[in-house]
Amino acid sequence: MSFPVNTVRADFPVLLREVNGSPLAYLDSAASAQKPNQVIDAEAEFYRHGYAAVHRGIHTLSAEATQRMEQVREKAAAFLNARLPEELVFVRGTTEGINLVANSWGNNQVCAGDNIIISSMEHHANIVPWQMLCERVGAQLRVIPLNQDGTLQLEVLPTLLDERTRLLAITHVSNVLGTENPVLEMIALAHQHGAKVLVDGAQAVMHHPVDVQALDCDFYVFSGHKLYGPTGIGVLYAKEEILQAMPPWEGGGSMIATVSLTEGTTYAKAPWRFEAGTPNTGGIIGLGAAIDYVTALGLKAIGEYEQTLMRYALAALAEVPDLTLYGPAQRQGVIAFNLGKHHAYDVGSFLDNYGIAVRTGHHCAMPLMAFYNVPAMCRASLVMYNTQEEIDRLVAGLKRIHQLLG
Ligand SMILES: Cc1ncc(COP(=O)(O)O)c(C=O)c1O
Repeated sequence: MSFPVNTVRADFPVLLREVNGSPLAYLDSAASAQKPNQVIDAEAEFYRHGYAAVHRGIHTLSAEATQRMEQVREKAAAFLNARLPEELVFVRGTTEGINLVANSWGNNQVCAGDNIIISSMEHHANIVPWQMLCERVGAQLRVIPLNQDGTLQLEVLPTLLDERTRLLAITHVSNVLGTENPVLEMIALAHQHGAKVLVDGAQAVMHHPVDVQALDCDFYVFSGHKLYGPTGIGVLYAKEEILQAMPPWEGGGSMIATVSLTEGTTYAKAPWRFEAGTPNTGGIIGLGAAIDYVTALGLKAIGEYEQTLMRYALAALAEVPDLTLYGPAQRQGVIAFNLGKHHAYDVGSFLDNYGIAVRTGHHCAMPLMAFYNVPAMCRASLVMYNTQEEIDRLVAGLKRIHQLLG
């Protein structure tokens, strides 16, 4: 059965918009995805008819809101195939999830002389928290280098791992190159050396099913807003025994068991120990609706449709003169490129004039820009609501820019 792209598109009201006199071609979903009516309506319905502060009230609305929030935790656990809902912490997004691990787990488990391994294709969110941790405790940051084709030099990983490696923090899918790293094998290898593994799933969970038990990763993080959900909500998965042993990192309401001015404070169990303050309950409800949405379509079907689009796009872009593409042929979701010697900002503004939205800049991956020796790249994202016609428009736009600017 063919993927119902037109039905999907009809669920996303913004896709009906015109931009600069042309229909919007939204090719920037890897930065943040658009939201279907189902997500917008779920959040609005919650604020209209179901809103109350969670966890604190005995009254009906508060109890209902608490229950709905915990149901989304169950839903997110099923989405990642986690063993238990209690292995999931609601965070603001991938960035906060990684910082939580760096500050709570990292401050306690990483010592002077230890090392942490990342890769040179990481988003700044999976670089900077580890640099900060290494500076705090006197640990060393080691980096898996890249091949020119945008894959990792995996043969180097065994030489970086040793008995002082505490963590491998690796992206599942690169936000610039679309490279899908062989995380299953990398996790097994890191575990052989006694290291824990954090997987940054920000660019993976929308493209195919993820099974944290099959991967056997210790931590997995993703953001709701890239999965067609609201901004300001994301999920950190951590294995139960690791999470329960981690100390809190932010103090406040909702994360305590008892507070005494003379006896000090005792903390709630995980995951609530890591959810200080009033949570983003509306965002959590929206995230639940987003998970329902992609689950109903089927992530396998979504992924297959996206791969068809990707093959079509790579073939069509090969016809554009002077276009440099970055990343491997087999990739997920994104195509980064530069046109001739033109700055990505100029190319991006031209495309915007035709109603085509692409991302331009360093994509929060400055080390990757340095590797390719460019200040910036353009990046087109392809997701479940994009079409071949939009790719044709991108290709025509790039050819036109080449004609005009040379
Ligand atoms: C691979 C990757 N990791 C982390 C992040 C950070 O996500 P957020 O800004 O939602 O915290 C992004 C966002 O672009 C990303 O693409």
